[in-house]
Amino acid sequence: MRFSHQSLSGLVLACAAVSVAAARDDATKPSIVLIMSDDQDRRLGSTDFQSVLHREIFSQGVEFVNHFATTAQCCPSRASFLRGQSAHNTNVTNVHAPGGNYDKWVQAGLDEEYLPHWLKKAGYKAEYVGKFLNGYNIINANITPKGWDHVDALLDPYTTYYNVPVMSQNGERPVYYQGFHSTDVVRTKALERLQSLVKGSEPYYLQIAPYAPHVQNDVHHTIPLARHMDLFPGISAPRTPNYNPDDEHQASKGGWPGTLPRMNETTQQTADKAFRYRAQALQGLDEIIEDVIAMLDANGKLDNTYVIYTSDNGYHIGQHRLPGGKALFYGEDTNLPFAVRGPGVPKNMTSQIPGVHLDLVPTFLDIAGLPEADWPSFLDGRSLLPQWKDPAGSSSGVGAGDGNSKETLNVEFWGSCTIEAPEGRELGAPFKNTTYKTLRMLGDRQSWLFAVWCTGQMELYDTAADPYELVNLAGKPEHEAVLSRLNALLLVTKSCAENTCRDPWAVFTPNNGTDEKVATMKEAMDTKYDAYFASFPRVHFASCMQYQDIANEQPFYPASAGTEKGLGFANRRPTDNFAFTTGGVAITDDNFHGTPEQRHATLEQVYAGARNLTDEELAAPAEPKKGGKGNGGDGAAEKRWGSRSCPSGLDLAMINTQIFLAHR
Ligand SMILES: *[C@@H]1O[C@H](CO)[C@@H](O)[C@H](O)[C@H]1NC(C)=O
Ligand SMILES: *[C@@H]1O[C@H](CO)[C@@H](O)[C@H](O)[C@H]1NC(C)=O
Ligand SMILES: *[C@@H]1O[C@H](CO)[C@@H](O)[C@H](O)[C@H]1NC(C)=O
Ligand SMILES: *[C@@H]1O[C@H](CO)[C@@H](O)[C@H](O)[C@H]1NC(C)=O
Ligand SMILES: *[C@@H]1O[C@H](CO)[C@@H](O)[C@H](O)[C@H]1NC(C)=O
Ligand SMILES: *[C@@H]1O[C@H](CO)[C@@H](O)[C@H](O)[C@H]1NC(C)=O
Repeated sequence: MRFSHQSLSGLVLACAAVSVAAARDDATKPSIVLIMSDDQDRRLGSTDFQSVLHREIFSQGVEFVNHFATTAQCCPSRASFLRGQSAHNTNVTNVHAPGGNYDKWVQAGLDEEYLPHWLKKAGYKAEYVGKFLNGYNIINANITPKGWDHVDALLDPYTTYYNVPVMSQNGERPVYYQGFHSTDVVRTKALERLQSLVKGSEPYYLQIAPYAPHVQNDVHHTIPLARHMDLFPGISAPRTPNYNPDDEHQASKGGWPGTLPRMNETTQQTADKAFRYRAQALQGLDEIIEDVIAMLDANGKLDNTYVIYTSDNGYHIGQHRLPGGKALFYGEDTNLPFAVRGPGVPKNMTSQIPGVHLDLVPTFLDIAGLPEADWPSFLDGRSLLPQWKDPAGSSSGVGAGDGNSKETLNVEFWGSCTIEAPEGRELGAPFKNTTYKTLRMLGDRQSWLFAVWCTGQMELYDTAADPYELVNLAGKPEHEAVLSRLNALLLVTKSCAENTCRDPWAVFTPNNGTDEKVATMKEAMDTKYDAYFASFPRVHFASCMQYQDIANEQPFYPASAGTEKGLGFANRRPTDNFAFTTGGVAITDDNFHGTPEQRHATLEQVYAGARNLTDEELAAPAEPKKGGKGNGGDGAAEKRWGSRSCPSGLDLAMINTQIFLAHR
């Protein structure tokens, strides 16, 4: 093995050819620390188990109870957040090919313009520790996530094995942190970065993204730190009114949930255990919050730092008979824990003001003081900073349709979807007919959830009267007027961009071609507009496909949105037949790490048992799936980690990857 660390660092530097604006010395700009958990619900009460989150963030800031993901799965949700674009515009729509993953993100060139690049324009340092995008793995680790001043990311396929943490720092050779739980490794590394950032003179953005409380895929539940494994004896998943509902309610569900049998005693007990493991795993998140706050405080930086807590998507356990998982449009999967403390944010408040992850990029650029002229033109969200500072004020605008509120939000999904429970396969997972478009409206007077499945089935819930989304009103004549408005809106939001995402009502001209507009659902419901809204074609799919295909999703409104003028085409490269990489697992460890002694582990301790992955480990055959085969075993590791030339993402992927050809 002739792997040379020296030449690699040189390579990383030389390849980081992105122009970095000279950092301005602006000590007064607030810094931002974002702590993002993985797959954490709000609606099942997971945050009730986080006393530190309550004490240090909820009580010291504002909890926004109507914050949503616009796509309820890790990779697409994170990609949308980092780009500030809806999934239909990034076209990163699933966790694996053809819909998504890190290789697609790179090959589409989405990494050339996203959050860290823009923060750096504003004079910020930008750093990332933890899980990045699915598919960032031991094979493509040297394709360093662009833009970050420092990035230290968990690598697939080990991401899911809590007790086998493998990470790459700035695209260097993957390192295995033997003897540690990944949440402890992420915490220790993040604190070391924070320590250096608070000592520096520049404002900074630090994202800390542990994998918890995501399931460890092979055991179908999360693995908490060993020191938390005795906590919360006897708790069970909450029996919400939509928990394991009866046939009458379930029969009206569309898509694959409509096919599920009622969960039996065994399935419920397994799900209850999974719920307890989640509560335990969240203690690891609380420890991160505790240490971050303490470090900011000790350095006199707490008052000038926004500390934000959220997740990438939500989670269900037993709702609508779904034992465990996400990827659906219901409230459990999309409504996220979300809270912020920081300069100008009032203390100990709860706010109903809606927000989505798409709004975070504009909010952060607003905080960073980047002039709007320097913002990318393609952002689909809006800054929430005014609402963070005035969460009860008149600018709240819920349902006001005044252009300051997000009355409607778009939730979408493509591709296969699983059940995160041992019974998954028996119940029919992975499911294929899972693609859908939905619209959620959050108003003072009217709240609705409207969904159209790729199978043509529809669901409509009056979420003000029926917050558990049990009674499907689609197809009921008395709700036809509402449905026609929501259908027209969804026709716009499913392909919206920029202003049409921020204010989809503005697209309509219901007053016989005059400029007069409707601004809210209340106005649109005037019976004089019945014929206008009824005239729109129904949102429709030609068939159930695993990725976004223009022909399959006709019609669009306006029609130009469904051409290469829309759907984010102008700001990304085509990814047809893109190549993707998959690494194999060579290391296992059946011990439970995260002992009490490791609670305050130092970086030296974390590195004491750490070692580089060997060439053999890097070449381990990937689990064969979908007719593809693993890569590696061809001396490729040396090419990747010892080469002097700047590899392009595509070249590398072509050297030893599966090439996805099957989807045309
Ligand atoms: C409970 O349901 C699961 C999933 O359908 C099934 O695998 C299991 O055999 C059932 N258990 C009992 C005791 O009926
Ligand atoms: C926060 O507000 C609640 C009531 O809304 C109150 O009971 C609690 O003491 C407050 N906590 C702090 C830290 O101010
Ligand atoms: C538009 O014009 C038609 C025919 O003149 C009329 O029937 C309809 O009510 C008008 N619609 C509105 C919203 O004014
Ligand atoms: C999936 O949807 C297609 C329509 O696109 C339908 O023909 C097929 O029967 C569906 N399969 C299942 C398992 O529901
Ligand atoms: C989305 O990605 C898939 C897979 O790479 C590709 O085939 C499809 O054309 C893309 N759709 C759009 C609208 O760009
Ligand atoms: C990995 O290998 C490089 C180059 O030989 C070396 O500098 C580095 O210390 C190694 N890392 C670990 C954790 O052993």
